[in-house]
Amino acid sequence: MSEPLVLGIESSCDETGVGIVAGTTLLANEVASSVDEHVRFGGVVPEVASRAHLQAFVPTLRRALATADVDLSQIDAISVTAGPGLMGALVVGVAAAKTLAAAIGKPLYGVNHLVGHVAVDVVEHGPLPPECVALLVSGGHTSLLRVGDIATDVQELGSTIDDAAGEAYDKVARILGLPYPGGPVIDKAAADGDPRAIAFPRGLTSQRDLDKHRFDFSFSGLKTAVARWVETRELDGLDVPVADVAASFQEAVCDVLTAKAVEACRFVGTDQMLIGGGVAANSRLRGLLEERCAAAGITLRRPRPGLCTDNGAMIAALGAQVVQAGLPPSPADLGADSGLPVTKIVV
Ligand code: KG4
Ligand code: ZN
Repeated sequence: MSEPLVLGIESSCDETGVGIVAGTTLLANEVASSVDEHVRFGGVVPEVASRAHLQAFVPTLRRALATADVDLSQIDAISVTAGPGLMGALVVGVAAAKTLAAAIGKPLYGVNHLVGHVAVDVVEHGPLPPECVALLVSGGHTSLLRVGDIATDVQELGSTIDDAAGEAYDKVARILGLPYPGGPVIDKAAADGDPRAIAFPRGLTSQRDLDKHRFDFSFSGLKTAVARWVETRELDGLDVPVADVAASFQEAVCDVLTAKAVEACRFVGTDQMLIGGGVAANSRLRGLLEERCAAAGITLRRPRPGLCTDNGAMIAALGAQVVQAGLPPSPADLGADSGLPVTKIVV
């Protein structure tokens, strides 16, 4: 099938997403977020997210079909996030997808959320190169990947040994008294700050650490360093310069992410890099990567910020790649796997 019409369903965290693609052409990307219901708790509450998915699914599906101007009977296949993510939230999407696939008599593909973050770029910049390095930076995961065929060949070069990059943003936002999710607010606050104001640590970059953890990340020491710095300042009765702390923290995160991503390209022997995941929407990460990739002769692919955070288009886009690769659909007893490894692309 050259341009399969695939409907993708995403429900791994707090966004209910339904996307529709024809091959690599995006026809609809409807997202309903329950983020407002989690703000007062300072993080996603799994039960609240699951209930919100249940309520949002049918209206989001209807909107996607209307936007794409397609009828369910025209859909060639359905893809759904099978993991990783919150179990209760994943189960809602998988059950909905199974029901829909059975009702219209079309194949169902359970796919990997993290690989979806990488695959989504095809709807913006066309088919992926034969090989590239992908920097995957989300709320729950941070990895460097070697991507061959996106449907069959993803290897992990390294990953975080503690907090994910997005998690670090969310935790530092809380330390600074900023709301959840912290990424976008820190991104904004940092715009008015000096990234050189405070020298925060760059995790796993010393020569000793690089010997063992060349492509791994660590952000928990950085988070603690920010907390200590703020605490000391408060104990001294001084104001906390939020913009400077945000900018200096962000610089530490982006410096390490970009340096290791460029190094991974050298290691793999490719001049193609791609970024994906919620933190890939970050303005400094996008800017610094652009600079460092240009200096290293690397072509950088960046999906637009709206496609970096969780959505259904990424699951539809990966589903279409999987259909085009001729892989078999998922079994009828497809289940959700909250800990699905990034190397397992289709379940
Ligand atoms: O990929 P995603 O939408 O969900 C997961 O799969 O986890 O990523 C969400 C994460 C959150 O931690 C959020 O704070 C972060 O992405 N994020 C950002 C930005 N926008 C979202 N981090 C930094 N800068 C941003 N502009
Ligand atoms: Zn995600």
